[in-house]
Amino acid sequence: MTRQYHRKKTPRILVTNAKGGSGKTTLATNLAAHYAQTQDVTIMDFDSQQSSTSWLTLRPNNLRAIDIQSGFKPNHLNQTRSWQLRSSIETDLIILDTPAAMPNFALEEVVSCSDIILIPVLPSMIDIKAVEQFIYHLLQTRAYRQNPVPVGVIANRVRRNTKIFATLSAFLKELGLPVISVIRDTQQFIKAYEQGMGVSELDRKSPSDNRSMHLITDWIDTHLNQFPETNQPSTEEIKAFRAESQETRSKPSENRPSEIIASR
Ligand SMILES: Nc1ncnc2c1ncn2[C@@H]1O[C@H](COP(=O)(O)OP(=O)(O)OP(=O)(O)O)[C@@H](O)[C@H]1O
Ligand SMILES: [Mg+2]
Repeated sequence: MTRQYHRKKTPRILVTNAKGGSGKTTLATNLAAHYAQTQDVTIMDFDSQQSSTSWLTLRPNNLRAIDIQSGFKPNHLNQTRSWQLRSSIETDLIILDTPAAMPNFALEEVVSCSDIILIPVLPSMIDIKAVEQFIYHLLQTRAYRQNPVPVGVIANRVRRNTKIFATLSAFLKELGLPVISVIRDTQQFIKAYEQGMGVSELDRKSPSDNRSMHLITDWIDTHLNQFPETNQPSTEEIKAFRAESQETRSKPSENRPSEIIASR
């Protein structure tokens, strides 16, 4: 199937949930810190609270740099968010951190530009109810219906063996969406945010948190590798094509059947 909203050469990971405080920024910043170890990463911060942007200002200079782009404010040329999303950015990976309760048009925009969608959800009855509606809404967006991409749920701030965790697990199973990881409720994530780091970069890291993050990145990597590339040629391919046709043009006309046909 031809992908209407074509996969960009730079993969985009959307972190979203209409519910406030579910862990979108925590997940976005930890993913950025993880991938920054091997790739050039850009976070697009769509939230007026600019929490990812603030996190980055705290990042120590000795750690791998991460770029930030504000998806929230139009830039000085009054270019829109949509332009920012579709423009090519010199980076290997883009992570989109979004605000709670995005208006419909904005959700359509970010979904249309994403290759993977991650939804962190808290194990509380209020959050479970809210995410149910949100997921339904997300799957009904025009952008998603035209171009379905993998959607994964992350249970965040979980205390195992609590009744509400069992409820969340049952609900997600019923929904048929994969729970790709479970993140525990721990000060490690709060400490990491305060230091502009991911949990994997803390001096005293916890193997359990590393495992939780690895489950997420493994899932992402598997899905990104499975993706068909866009039908659009890359910049290099376009250059090579131009050079080739330039060469053809300089050859004698009898070598060019299309020109002979056109001249009749
Ligand atoms: N696994 C966790 N353990 C402990 N605290 C956490 C965890 N995940 C997130 N938090 C804390 O919960 C709060 C909300 O998290 P976060 O800001 O990531 O949510 P959000 O979905 O981005 O919120 P908003 O909708 O306001 O943008 C923060 O104080 C964060 O440090
Ligand atoms: Mg946030």
